[in-house]
Amino acid sequence: MIKRKDIIKIAIDSPAAAGAGTLAKAISKHYNLFYLDTGKIYRMIAYLKIKFPKKFNQNFIKSKIKTLKIKDLANKALLSDEVGTEASIISKVKNTRKLVHSFQLNYAYNPPKSYKGSCLDGRDITYNIVPDADFKFFITANVKTRALRRYNELKSLKKKISFQEVIKSIKIRDKSDYNRKISPLKKTKDSVLLNTSKLTKRACFLKIKKIIDRKINN
Ligand code: C5P
Repeated sequence: MIKRKDIIKIAIDSPAAAGAGTLAKAISKHYNLFYLDTGKIYRMIAYLKIKFPKKFNQNFIKSKIKTLKIKDLANKALLSDEVGTEASIISKVKNTRKLVHSFQLNYAYNPPKSYKGSCLDGRDITYNIVPDADFKFFITANVKTRALRRYNELKSLKKKISFQEVIKSIKIRDKSDYNRKISPLKKTKDSVLLNTSKLTKRACFLKIKKIIDRKINN
């Protein structure tokens, strides 16, 4: 694997809808880092499972990952609650994770030349995908806040779903992501914890920026 030298690598782990994506995007833009929302890769696989149930097997996933382009991950269909729930199921399969692993490594360690580094968010980024990241964060928020954020996001996409359904599916997803045997969600000792429950997007951004600037300006 090609590894670019002198790049900044940021690794973020978080439970569903904690605000990590919004924050990672803002940080990536500010420091000119390539941003990869790794959840979208699992969502893409889940979407394929829902769309092509008969064709769905490891070879099918392998061929899709081989030709997967970053722009494919912008597909709005990936944002539904159904796809998110299915993603937390398919992401428990060891071979599936292996296939996704190499796709992520390439962007983490060899981001396109126009970028000064990479920023990945997901569930196992800080200890499995980019264990030598320059900065590691664990972003979280209480369940109610996360459910409300996800509910508003889904409503803005005109998805038909109730707040109670969103809370329920976030709780199920948390249980699965934290307790699964392979690559569970966890906060590593060397990750900085940020609870975004009572913070604005701007306040979150400034907290992270302060930590990064302190190190890179020294
Ligand atoms: O982050 P997002 O909610 O889009 O992720 C969807 C699901 O994909 C998660 O609930 C999790 O089960 C899985 N995932 C994972 N590892 C990652 C990113 C996401 O297992 N690095």
